[in-house]
Amino acid sequence: MIGIYFSGTGNTKYCLEKFVALYDATAETVSLEESAVIGKIMLHKDIIFAYPIYYSNLPKIVRDFINDNQTIWEKKNIFIISTMGLFSGDGAGLSARLFKKYKAHIWGGLHLKMPDCICDVKALKHSPSQNQQIVFNAGKDIQLAVNKLKQGVPIKDGLGFFYHIAGFLGQRFWFISKTLHYYENVHIDKTACIGCGTCVSTCPMQNLSLIQEKAVAGKKCTLCYRCANQCKRKAITILGKHVISQWSISNWEDFNAK
Ligand SMILES: Cc1cc2nc3c(=O)[nH]c(=O)nc-3n(C[C@H](O)[C@H](O)[C@H](O)COP(=O)(O)O)c2cc1C
Repeated sequence: MIGIYFSGTGNTKYCLEKFVALYDATAETVSLEESAVIGKIMLHKDIIFAYPIYYSNLPKIVRDFINDNQTIWEKKNIFIISTMGLFSGDGAGLSARLFKKYKAHIWGGLHLKMPDCICDVKALKHSPSQNQQIVFNAGKDIQLAVNKLKQGVPIKDGLGFFYHIAGFLGQRFWFISKTLHYYENVHIDKTACIGCGTCVSTCPMQNLSLIQEKAVAGKKCTLCYRCANQCKRKAITILGKHVISQWSISNWEDFNAK
C-alpha cells in the first residue's frame, strides 16, 4: 500500500500520514509533487489518495494529476481522503468518479474537517482552542475509519448520489470558475516583500519568481495558499486583501508542544 497526497498548508499531509501509520506502519506516503511519484504508484495495488477541497471541488493540480496519468489507475484499489474546513458534499466522490472512469476500484472515502487555511478571508477562522478540538476530532475520525477498513467495512463518505447533488448545489455550481482554470490574480505587496524567496521555493506550480529581489506571481496558481501562509512579511494575498492569521499545522504542532 502507498499513500499519495497533495497538501497546500499541511492538513491533508498530516491526516494521510496518521491514517497510513495506523493502517500499515511500513507503508510510504508520497506527495504528488515528487518526481518519483508515478513510478512509486505503479508498484502498488492499494492506494490511499488524499487532497483538500476548494469550493467543493478538486484543486486543479489534483484534477490534472489524475487526468494526465490516466493509465496508471487501472485495477488499483483506491481509498480517498478529502480534508475541508466545513463542508464539501461529495469531496471524495469528485476523484472517485475520475478514478472509476480510468478503471480503478473505489475502496471507500473519508471526509475530515480540519482548520481553515484561507489566511486572507475571515469566514472560517477559529480560535487556537477550537482548532485544537477540530484536529483532535479528525484524529478520532481517522482511527474509526482505519478500524472499519481493517474490518472490511470501509467508510464511504462523499461517494453516493445524494453527496454528489449536495456538493454540486452546495457550492461547486456557484464557484465553478474558481477551480476550472488556474487562478491568475495572486497579489504581492512589493513594499512588504523582502525577496527572501520562500514563496518561490515552496510553490507547487512554480508560479512565483524573483525579479529584482521582489516576488512576482504568474498566472498558474492552484489556490493552495502555501505561499500566503508561509510569507513571514504577510506580503501575499490571493482571495482577500489582508492576511488575517496564517495557518500551518506543523507550526501549530510545534506551538502546542511547548
Ligand atoms: C481556495 C480554497 C477554497 C476552499 N474551499 C473550501 C470548501 O469549499 N469547503 C470547505 O469545507 N473547505 C474549503 N477550504 C478549506 C480547505 O479545504 C481546508 O483548510 C483543507 O484542510 C486544507 O488542506 P491543506 O492544508 O492540506 O492544503 C478551502 C480552502 C482554499 C484554500
